[in-house]
Amino acid sequence: RLLPKPQGVLSGKRIVITAGPTYEPLDPVRFVGNRSSGKQGYAIAAACRNEGAEVTLISGPVHLSPPPGCEVVQVRTAREMLEASEKALPADVFIACAAVADYRPAFETTHKVKKERGGLTAIDLVENPDILATVSQMEEGRPQLVIGFAAETDDVIGHAETKRARKKCDWIIANDVSPGTDVMGGDRNTVTIITGKGDEALPEMPKDRLGAYLAQRIARKLSAG
Ligand code: CTP
Ligand code: CA
Repeated sequence: RLLPKPQGVLSGKRIVITAGPTYEPLDPVRFVGNRSSGKQGYAIAAACRNEGAEVTLISGPVHLSPPPGCEVVQVRTAREMLEASEKALPADVFIACAAVADYRPAFETTHKVKKERGGLTAIDLVENPDILATVSQMEEGRPQLVIGFAAETDDVIGHAETKRARKKCDWIIANDVSPGTDVMGGDRNTVTIITGKGDEALPEMPKDRLGAYLAQRIARKLSAG
């Protein structure tokens, strides 16, 4: 067991965070995945831990060093991420920062797909479980505060509001990932926190700064009940 820092605005709180992409295998060498770097989730984990929280970070495959003092659970697929999330609960706060692959190949072969054996021109996909929606709708032991992210283009706030209602999370943090915004993989983020009691549009800032801001904002929410 890793010891949290003894003091901070989140001391005594348990926080579970998902981060990074998921990789959905097709055969022993290929997968379906996405470009998530994991930076924002790792920054939130580090910031919450710095404020005294006991943090479990459930991470898909990324190229980042584990944030000090956090328990890190490495997973690859969406199904593994869901299982690890359920195992890490109960917690006071659940933050779904991961870019979970929405679909996975319907069949995973143990043999490498070969061109001379007919190859592959189309991949059958099946939908993955929705981790955020599952945790948001837990009947027993639901975390007090469940937070999702919504990477959107076009009507960013509108899409994010709809997502918050559909998944039944408490907050959704909306960011614009239109071409040119450089959020995916970049070091900066521009978000709006949608709380259901008004929207908080934040200025562009480094992902670390946003992590620190969110740790404070979460602490304020937990103490307000
Ligand atoms: N999420 C999740 N499990 C999934 C898909 C998404 O936990 N299978 C979470 C993400 O971690 C994020 C939030 O749900 O916090 C929104 O993810 P997003 O991909 O924007 O939402 P989707 O419901 O997948 O909708 P779409 O990709 O079609 O916009
Ligand atoms: Ca998605």
